[in-house]
Amino acid sequence: MAQMAAEGETPEILFWVGCAGSFDQRAQKITRALALILEKAGIRFAVLGAEEACTGDPARRSLEIIRRAVENGETIGALTERFIGFMHEDERALGVQAPDREPRATQYVPQMHEIIAALNSFHGRTLFTVSVGGQPKYSDGFGPKIQGITHVPYNDLEALKAAISDKTCAVVLEPIQGEGGVLPAEKAYLEGARELCNAHNALLVFDEVQSGMGRSGELFAYMHYGVVPDILSSAKSLGGGFPIAAMLTTTDLAKHFTPGTHGTTYGGNPLACAVGEAVLDIVNTRETLDGVKVKHQQFKQRLEALGKQFGLFEQVRGMGLLLGCVLNEAWKGKAKQVLDAASAEGLMILQAGPDVVRFAPSLVVEERDIEEGLARFERALSKLANA
Ligand SMILES: Cc1ncc(COP(=O)(O)O)c(C=O)c1O
Repeated sequence: MAQMAAEGETPEILFWVGCAGSFDQRAQKITRALALILEKAGIRFAVLGAEEACTGDPARRSLEIIRRAVENGETIGALTERFIGFMHEDERALGVQAPDREPRATQYVPQMHEIIAALNSFHGRTLFTVSVGGQPKYSDGFGPKIQGITHVPYNDLEALKAAISDKTCAVVLEPIQGEGGVLPAEKAYLEGARELCNAHNALLVFDEVQSGMGRSGELFAYMHYGVVPDILSSAKSLGGGFPIAAMLTTTDLAKHFTPGTHGTTYGGNPLACAVGEAVLDIVNTRETLDGVKVKHQQFKQRLEALGKQFGLFEQVRGMGLLLGCVLNEAWKGKAKQVLDAASAEGLMILQAGPDVVRFAPSLVVEERDIEEGLARFERALSKLANA
């Protein structure tokens, strides 16, 4: 008999273990086993960095939390409560899963079906998200394209004003364009977007898959701007390397998500939610968030100095620990070359398009790693500049 109950309580019968599960209460054993495996392997908290994952205090703390969460059977409910808790002031509530879901939430009024997104944005690789994303290189070759999506230049309020109408159901923006070149939104732009959405009864959607969960130095980047979206998507760091995504929305909007309208096979996976809680415990503290801000300054100053010294990039931009070095005219299109040179020195960095070298280190990266990493970057730039 499928049963899950506390001691002394009448067991419930579960006839809905779901397509991904073959077991009933024995699933708890499986999740415990998984937690044990994670513990033994040293869960790879991408957001924290591999070293801390194996040895550091955050890893031990997080594993404790995972164990506790799994053993107590705390799942999606607990994670949801946490989100509602910290977003209470903004009247947030939580649904689950990533950006692909947003437009469905907004498309129940047939005459309001148009979506406005930003050129150069990135929202993922499903047919819908490549269509909303403003980079043809990701959508070319797939079709027929989703209709009703318009792209406007980012940080251009006039262009948004010209495009929005009473047919617009949603404006989808990244508060910091990540893949598109580590470009933060201007405050007036997001404020203006909020006002335009209010005036046209459209939803403002922030994709915080990359900018969220502490990366900007606040839990979510919107918190820097004081502009609250109607819908926010989170993923990546939410699981610290473990797959989980969440969609947060307002209490008002959440009421429209009736059972069955919004579901997915793995939604509310207990282990993923426990990991999400563990990540929140570590990231959503002043210690971590303020640390990100301090480290931002360190990186920015050093990178700017290196930019001047070697004459490769003209600007260092970004927020928190998401920084982009914008290559100058002479080096435009050569971000990959910089990455390769860094890699040859044993430093792994990213690019954000062909013209921007991207830094997104661990949120708890240690002082000595910052020093050593930047010393390696300096050597790489020196070799490139003198080649
Ligand atoms: C802003 C943004 N949204 C969505 C995604 C897509 O996330 P996933 O690859 O997990 O679907 C990414 C991935 O880089 C992203 O940066």
